[in-house]
Amino acid sequence: MPGVLLGDVFPNFEAETTIGRIKFHDFLGDWWGILFSHPRDFTPVCTTELACAAGLTGEFKKRGVKMIALSIDSVEDHTNWSKDVMAFNGETGTPLPFPIIADDKRSLSVQLGMLDPDEIDKDGMPLTARCVFVIGPDKKLKLSILYPATTGRNFDELLRVIDSLQLTAQKKVATPVNWKPGDKVMVIPSLSEAEATALFPNGVTCKELPSGKKYLRFTQP
Ligand code: BEZ
Repeated sequence: MPGVLLGDVFPNFEAETTIGRIKFHDFLGDWWGILFSHPRDFTPVCTTELACAAGLTGEFKKRGVKMIALSIDSVEDHTNWSKDVMAFNGETGTPLPFPIIADDKRSLSVQLGMLDPDEIDKDGMPLTARCVFVIGPDKKLKLSILYPATTGRNFDELLRVIDSLQLTAQKKVATPVNWKPGDKVMVIPSLSEAEATALFPNGVTCKELPSGKKYLRFTQP
């Protein structure tokens, strides 16, 4: 099945977008990237999602993340629909603050494994699912999420995930269930006790467990 796996270099595709033709790696530069697909322009859930993403532009920028959307509609449709998206946010006349890729031949959607065979347009052609790819500054895929057309995504969760990805790229930690920035994190299992003590000056606390194994180790990063 086509697609990109975690750790793969993300394809350096060329595409038409609402800001002109781009080469993906040049578009990203040294930034992190988030590429999210949606089934179709002028549809309700997609409108709420892109409006939410537009409202969070400052949060993505603060984290050094460039945003880009994709669907199988044309640049012209994307440009017209963007006006609805911004109007939904109460910002009529303000341009959508990120580009949308026009994959009207579905070539990129096939390459990246984004088509949902259960969502068909009036011509019997599959639509794009709600895919999310987070790409690191090294151009490698750090995260992928795939939702069906009928379930809108949670962009606060995407920011939380990016906070985790950026923290764990810097430090030898992993973030536990429902983690939020500022919470304690877990020391990764491959670190010895001595290495953990040296690496985490705020201290490491280890939870006693019936197994006697010392793997539940918390620290404040
Ligand atoms: C929507 O964005 O509302 C949508 C698109 C395709 C199928 C279902 C919902």
